[in-house]
Amino acid sequence: MSSDLTNSENSFDFLPLYGTDYVEFYVGNAKQAAHFYKTAFGFQSLAYAGPETGIMDRVSYVIRQNKITFVLTTPLKTNNAIADHIYKHGDGVKVLALMVNDASDAWKQTTQRGAKTFMEPVVLNDANGELVMSGIHTYGDTVHLFIERNNYSGVFMPGYKKWESDYNPSETGLLYVDHCVGNVGWNQMNPWVKFYEDVMGFKNILSFDDKDISTEYSALMSKVMSNGNGYVKFPINEPAEGKKKSQVEEFLDFYNGEGVQHVAIATHDIVHTVTELQNRGIDFLKVPETYYDTVLDRVGKIEEDLEPLKKLGILIDRDEEGYLLQIFSKPLEDRPTLFFEIIQRKGAKSFGKGNFKALFEALEREQEIRGNL
Ligand code: FE2
Repeated sequence: MSSDLTNSENSFDFLPLYGTDYVEFYVGNAKQAAHFYKTAFGFQSLAYAGPETGIMDRVSYVIRQNKITFVLTTPLKTNNAIADHIYKHGDGVKVLALMVNDASDAWKQTTQRGAKTFMEPVVLNDANGELVMSGIHTYGDTVHLFIERNNYSGVFMPGYKKWESDYNPSETGLLYVDHCVGNVGWNQMNPWVKFYEDVMGFKNILSFDDKDISTEYSALMSKVMSNGNGYVKFPINEPAEGKKKSQVEEFLDFYNGEGVQHVAIATHDIVHTVTELQNRGIDFLKVPETYYDTVLDRVGKIEEDLEPLKKLGILIDRDEEGYLLQIFSKPLEDRPTLFFEIIQRKGAKSFGKGNFKALFEALEREQEIRGNL
């Protein structure tokens, strides 16, 4: 593992980003998906777009919890880009939208450095002001949109109306998007690392090779890319040769290409959050109970009682700056593709390297049950 958590102070950030604006999923049935994310994760109804608001080809439900905004979009007809995306990939993440102060400049800065245009800057207006957006392509069919909403006070963006629902399950303590991980193809990690460096000004802050992340069977490599202020972090995974099929390869097979593998969401109380999620039907990967026999020898003293962590299957890791608690859901759709991570950071800025082996053995048990190992 190599580490360079200090970005050089003197380098000019040509693409200032202020966090994840929203994550948009293309799904087969947005109405049901919105219900699932509200019920299971405690997201709140925020906005709606569809024929009733003048959008004729699709429906989008916007849900929010603290600083996390999800958009769930479904096509109303065939023969369009959204329908094709779902046909090819199943339900998955299409858009990782990023907050900027100047969406036109973000588009200019990135495209002149080699990004492929997804959307030239457009200005959207309604009675609540003006919102500017633009976009570029990244790995697979995934895109980054740049969202400038400093002069917009509406509920989400022009074209959307407020979504008032009588069904409002309580929140579960999810706070913000900590990082979003992309799975890319064989030998594609370094080209995408270079893309994030050259085109978006990110830095590679951590690297894991197949010696760090290999179990008896499968392996992967990973590099963590971060923007200048650390608000946006995109680890990039690539499969590595092992005795059997890498979990990244299984993803690539079922997603039919590169795409977002997991979205990690932060909480300040992981025991509360995960208790709620499990009670609401979310399944998590479980490590063997023996993990907890030696974990404190590895990570040292922690503030939490071990017993609730063990009961819920929450993993613990430590780096030079502190420790973290984390857990990974099983895939959230029938294809073994997208899953969520729930993470509570207690000083640690890393990603749980010490848990990879135990975790990947748990993953492989699931992969084997699916017949894909
Ligand atoms: Fe993660």
